[in-house]
Amino acid sequence: MEDALAARATELRKELNYHIYRYNVLNDPIITDAEYDRLFHELRELEVEHPELRTPDSPTQRVGSDLSDDLPKVAHPAPILSLANAFSPEDLQRWEERNLKLMTAGTTFDYVLEPKLDGLSVVLTYVDSVLVTAATRGNGEVGDDVTANIRTIRTVPLRIPSHADGPQPPSRLVVRGEVLFQKEDFERVNEEQEAAGLPRYVNARNTASGSLKQKDSRITAQRPLTAYIYDIVDSDGLVLDKEWDTLEFMRDMGFNVIPHSEYFPTLSDIIQQLPTWESHRNQLPFEIDGLVIKINDIAARRELGISGKDPRGATAYKFPAEEATTTLLDVVVNIGRTGKVTPTASLEPVFLSGVTVSNASLHNYDLIQQLDIRVGDKVIVKRSGEVIPYVIGPVTGARDGSETPILPPELCPFSGDVLVRPEGAVDLFCPNPRCEERVFRSLEFFVSRGAMDIDGMGPETVKALIDANLINDEADIFYLEADSILALEGFADKKVDNLLQSIENAKHRPLAQLLASLGIDGVGGVVANLLADRFHSMQMLIETTNAIKAQENAFLESIAPLLSVETSDPDAARAKTRLSKPLVELAPRYVDASDLGSKLSRLLKPILSIDSSVPVEVIAERLQILTATAKSLLTIEGLGPILASNVVNWFADGYHQELLAKMERAGVNMVAEKVEKEGTSLDGLKFVITGTMSVPRDDIKALIEAHGGKVSGSVSKNTDYVVVGESPGSKADKASQLGVTILSEDDLRAMVN
Ligand code: IVH
Repeated sequence: MEDALAARATELRKELNYHIYRYNVLNDPIITDAEYDRLFHELRELEVEHPELRTPDSPTQRVGSDLSDDLPKVAHPAPILSLANAFSPEDLQRWEERNLKLMTAGTTFDYVLEPKLDGLSVVLTYVDSVLVTAATRGNGEVGDDVTANIRTIRTVPLRIPSHADGPQPPSRLVVRGEVLFQKEDFERVNEEQEAAGLPRYVNARNTASGSLKQKDSRITAQRPLTAYIYDIVDSDGLVLDKEWDTLEFMRDMGFNVIPHSEYFPTLSDIIQQLPTWESHRNQLPFEIDGLVIKINDIAARRELGISGKDPRGATAYKFPAEEATTTLLDVVVNIGRTGKVTPTASLEPVFLSGVTVSNASLHNYDLIQQLDIRVGDKVIVKRSGEVIPYVIGPVTGARDGSETPILPPELCPFSGDVLVRPEGAVDLFCPNPRCEERVFRSLEFFVSRGAMDIDGMGPETVKALIDANLINDEADIFYLEADSILALEGFADKKVDNLLQSIENAKHRPLAQLLASLGIDGVGGVVANLLADRFHSMQMLIETTNAIKAQENAFLESIAPLLSVETSDPDAARAKTRLSKPLVELAPRYVDASDLGSKLSRLLKPILSIDSSVPVEVIAERLQILTATAKSLLTIEGLGPILASNVVNWFADGYHQELLAKMERAGVNMVAEKVEKEGTSLDGLKFVITGTMSVPRDDIKALIEAHGGKVSGSVSKNTDYVVVGESPGSKADKASQLGVTILSEDDLRAMVN
């Protein structure tokens, strides 16, 4: 037994040292950070239980350092410690038991739970309330001096803003915190990168680190970093007994303290909270990689001391890893309801954030080629929140030469049609709308939770009904009868009753919900609502789009000679394209135009000067009629010309019209109910929402809209109010800059009442 443990320790040391070498020397790791953490944890636990197995070359004896070569150094007043990791409730229980053994009998612990921010640690020294130095953790003894850079971060007070009637800071105070990007701000940085034609940053933590270690603080100043303070490292004369009081004290002095910390009287309370935290982590405004659990009693923490570089009185609970490495066994071609081809990875099953993953998206064939992913590769797979797991990339360092390249398919594996790639698209498509797989995917979507929400009709049921030839399209669902379903295997009375009841309920869904379920390209919930609000009934929508299609055809017919003009002049070619897509390229520009003739003469000059067979007056007249016919569709705010044209084309398809007629005959609701506005107190006012509210943001949005207000995504001079929740991002700063009034959620509720 002892021998086996010693052998395991040797093996772990060897393996970890190899991975340290690959990561640091070769810069070519073959496992993820989380996989490394696990191996490290196993070795550390072994060494704690059997100290005789600890050797000087053990990676656990190494103190991590992130010091740069070219920044001045600052010595820390006390060691800046790191934290040991726990990966399971059992690990946490062991941690507590070990601590209790070191204390006098009868000791109990209470705890503080904090999110573990995924940023980089900084140490801030204040003398007489003024920030004098800021340093990174470095090697725990000495850090990089980043004072000038830290001064650019607006959440770091340059002077502790304590109030005369609140707690006063000691003459010297050294605090510790974490610098990071809020998710919203990181996204903005990436949008700016993209706008400048530069590559996106992948990792928020590394980008924050790079931003903070700039030699020129003007560069740091351009990055919207945030800092949270979570600890007092050292001070002159300050004595606090409890962690919970320390947090409150720092908050009262005016530091930006994480608002999500919680107090718990026992460890089992904390363990009960773990699943809640795990499922909420994606809703926080910043990335976290786990939780930090601290014994509340500071004297007890001091007494417990440190083990290596980690204090015994606090520990990190790491969430299940979101990334893992595994082998890519094969690539399967998936066809979606729009015909889009998604290459899907079949993987050697791997345990990832709590579930076994054996399939993952490979996005598209361009990306496969760019990343040079091959069958047989070790690949890194990620699964985060609700998103479908996807392959991040290959671990090229692990190749043995047996891997084979992946080629895009030529034919749809279901319908045999030749796959097409629309101009400018990265994806391949099966062009056949009746392709059996596309039909299945459309039906599966139509009945799903986010669409018509037909309970009891999951993908298997849809498949079974299609296979039994009971349904061939969406409308058939509303004609299903008990007898024929009962004849299928696995469908008993009760189940069939429930299914038929759900189908009956689905007949009475609002018009917008039906519209959003039809799978019209680009028509989700928001656009469906716009359409339902404007047209009130399917009938009206069909009549309008039919009329538009007829006028579009009439227009195209009248200008047909121009479309067959052969030209190498790019301006003429551009004019020709405009003429060929009148609904997208021409009508939207001239919705309220006068003097259409002369405007068109100018726009179309390059082609009219080549071919004068169609007088511009004729073009103007036909376009005038098309524009007038399409006006009600083209003037919907929030619905662009391409979407409008998708809508027209979808409804113009006779198959779709017949489908809708068939649904209507079955009693499916095709009219919008009149929604009464709750009030007009916010009529005409423009709002922006930022930060975490007590309810989902969509609810706040609905509240504003129900009272006549409008909600938009970004703050501008035209914004009337910014509603700010907890941990607001840069939008709140922008509002103050522009002098836009800031409201709390309560203020807003008071306004509408
Ligand atoms: S307390 C002795 N609290 O996690 C106290 N650390 O893996 C040690 N971290 O180096 C730190 N959020 O950079 C603490 N709420 C939090 C934290 C936190 C993130 C980081 C910190 C530390 C690392 C340890």
